[in-house]
Amino acid sequence: KGKRAFIAGVADDNGYGWAIAKSLAAAGAEILVGTWVPALNIFETSLRRGKFDESRALPDGSLMKITKIYPLDAVYDNPEDVPEDVKTNKRYAGCSNWTVQEAAESVKQDFGSIDILVHSLANGPEVTKPLLETSRKGYLAAVSASSYSYVSLLKHFLPIMNPGGSSISLTYIASERIIPGYGGGMSSAKAALESDTRVLAFEAGRKRKIRVNTISAGPLRSRAAKAIGFIDMMIEYSLANAPLQKELSADEVGNTAAFLVSPLASAITGAVIYVDNGLNAMGMGL
Ligand code: NAI
Repeated sequence: KGKRAFIAGVADDNGYGWAIAKSLAAAGAEILVGTWVPALNIFETSLRRGKFDESRALPDGSLMKITKIYPLDAVYDNPEDVPEDVKTNKRYAGCSNWTVQEAAESVKQDFGSIDILVHSLANGPEVTKPLLETSRKGYLAAVSASSYSYVSLLKHFLPIMNPGGSSISLTYIASERIIPGYGGGMSSAKAALESDTRVLAFEAGRKRKIRVNTISAGPLRSRAAKAIGFIDMMIEYSLANAPLQKELSADEVGNTAAFLVSPLASAITGAVIYVDNGLNAMGMGL
């Protein structure tokens, strides 16, 4: 029987979420995605108009099929959490059931269960500010959107995950080494995400035999990364200093995700897996 995946954080064809969807689809999984509410319209329209058809192509020549797109804002757990100004915001008003709890309920109603949960989203409103200049509000927003969003997703989807299932998120080395410029509490948020990966691996493993891992990915020119402001520099730095001097392709992260959620990785849980051309292992560039 084919597996079913829910991938949170896909809104175009440039990011890691899209590449992961493709690798999972190529391996035979059914793909459901969760798309940030303000980005939903343009994503659906672009898909419908064929804008992504070229990048939907799978190795066997067929096009990746997304069975259903769910609106999602992973900063809110249930309708009681949503402030009035968001409820009435015109980017949200035409849309319903997009809190984490409601999204999980919708997936349950539509499909009953899933096997794979992917978290490929992050947001830090003050990411361009150094940590010393980050406000409490900005820091907490980064942790809410980038770390707690994963705790919440796993919490709400766990009851509909089939035993033997698996979950992954995406992290970045700024959690453990100094990356000047990755600010606004985003480095802190990734450190929380990695620590939570271990604790959640224990809890979800004991509770439902679900594995939980995170991929520490190298730099990719995604929409989110462009907002940080120095993605080209990060890519150049990696090219110059990593053991493997090639540009990282999103597919390499996608393929690792496909491995991690497959039975081939049945004893791997609570791990941070580096997919970065080996850059994390360097102490000094040469
Ligand atoms: P992306 O822009 O493709 O993905 C981020 C997604 O998060 C977007 O689709 C955005 O709409 C969504 N999003 C933001 N706030 C949300 C919310 N409140 N609720 C639901 N969705 C929300 O960019 P990318 O870079 O592929 O990001 C995916 C993951 O990869 C993130 O966790 C990021 O930190 C991580 N990563 C990215 C690296 C890079 O160089 N691009 C390097 C290492 C990790």
